[in-house]
Amino acid sequence: MQKLIIDGKKILSGSINISGSKNSALPILAATILNNHTTIKNIPFVNDILTMLNLLRFIGLKYKISKKKNLVEVINSNTNINTVAPYKLVKTMRAGILVLGPLLAKYRRAKVSLPGGCAIGTRPVDLHLFALKKLGAKIKIKNGYIFASAINGLRGTRFKFPTISVGATENTILAAVQAKGVTIIDNCAVEPEIKDLINFLKKLGVNIKIKGRQITIKKIIKEKKISHKIICDRIELGTYLICGALTAKKLKLKNVDSDLVKKEIKTLKKMGVKLNVNKNFIEVFKSINIKKINIKTEPYPGFPSDLQAQIMILMTQAKGLSKIKENIFENRFMHVPELKRMGAKIEIRNNIAYISGPCYLNGAEVMATDLRASVSLVLAALIADKRTKINRIYHLDRGYQDLEKKLIKCNARIKRI
Ligand code: UD1
Repeated sequence: MQKLIIDGKKILSGSINISGSKNSALPILAATILNNHTTIKNIPFVNDILTMLNLLRFIGLKYKISKKKNLVEVINSNTNINTVAPYKLVKTMRAGILVLGPLLAKYRRAKVSLPGGCAIGTRPVDLHLFALKKLGAKIKIKNGYIFASAINGLRGTRFKFPTISVGATENTILAAVQAKGVTIIDNCAVEPEIKDLINFLKKLGVNIKIKGRQITIKKIIKEKKISHKIICDRIELGTYLICGALTAKKLKLKNVDSDLVKKEIKTLKKMGVKLNVNKNFIEVFKSINIKKINIKTEPYPGFPSDLQAQIMILMTQAKGLSKIKENIFENRFMHVPELKRMGAKIEIRNNIAYISGPCYLNGAEVMATDLRASVSLVLAALIADKRTKINRIYHLDRGYQDLEKKLIKCNARIKRI
């Protein structure tokens, strides 16, 4: 199993290109099932994307990738389609569930493995199934699989999600674009990744509107050759912004859309981080006097749960007691015991973490537990005294393109063994 060895306390400096958004590319790749010829640009070649491409191939689509150009071309010739997402692919990447909506909508049936829980929580899919049933699907669960069918096709309807879910909103949109009539959904997630999916579907002639948390879908997809560029990864960008605040003489983050991280920029500025924000690039500088802050994770436009573990490292360097209330996932503080082994002073009560700072972090041997927790350990290692060994880094490879390369180019001392 691979490990990262990081020697801390190096001052970073240089520029980093931010990759395309993994969480945007995943539903858009699922959406290629609905079309015949799609080119996607600015694709991040991380393991979750490769798993989704494997899933598309299993279903019967063909693809060509150009790693150099960060581009993938997906062809669906609508022959020999296997409307199944097997356990072996969905268990390694929960977003595999996103093929359920498009398969059901286009081919009127699908068999998709239930994803199961993961380190950060139980993560059920009840909201996905609730919405597909509202669109007229018949759903049965048997032997760990979801069997969905809509023999006469899906039909438009109006309903409200009882709670906000990114994946359920995406799956429902991907199904509703093939439903007869109008679909109006209330209490939707409105993350930038959902807007990117909508912009993609508009290129196929679908009439979709977002107003507040309401999404209206009117026209059915017309298959045609299209091309789409994925938005920048706001979570990767947020991670490197925090990295710069912790370590950098000057870190320039390029290929970004700074409008996607307004909340994060506001939070970092409140903490006293020095930033030079432009539309397409942001410069960030190591901050000496970091101020304590209280944050809570919320659906967009709130502070993202996916940056909670990373901002916690900055809080360990802030003067006073900072608090994080995790409102999205019930078990997303798995990084805390590892950080405590490095000397962090953190207490957890229910879904709130109390972080006392500033504190001195020491290198240690630690274990990565999930994607964002892993990268928070990398950030901690970069400011820790001496050497940190991070085990189980396969989580990092699921979502961060060229992490070590990007950091090494800016003077970090990192080795993969
Ligand atoms: C997506 C992101 C993930 C991010 C999360 C929250 C992708 C591939 N992943 O995950 O990085 O952390 O949004 O911003 O885009 N829930 C239910 N029933 C459901 C679905 C969700 O109870 O059917 C709950 C979840 O357990 C969780 C909450 O709703 O507590 C939000 O989850 P959701 O927004 O669905 O997250 P994902 O789409 O899985």
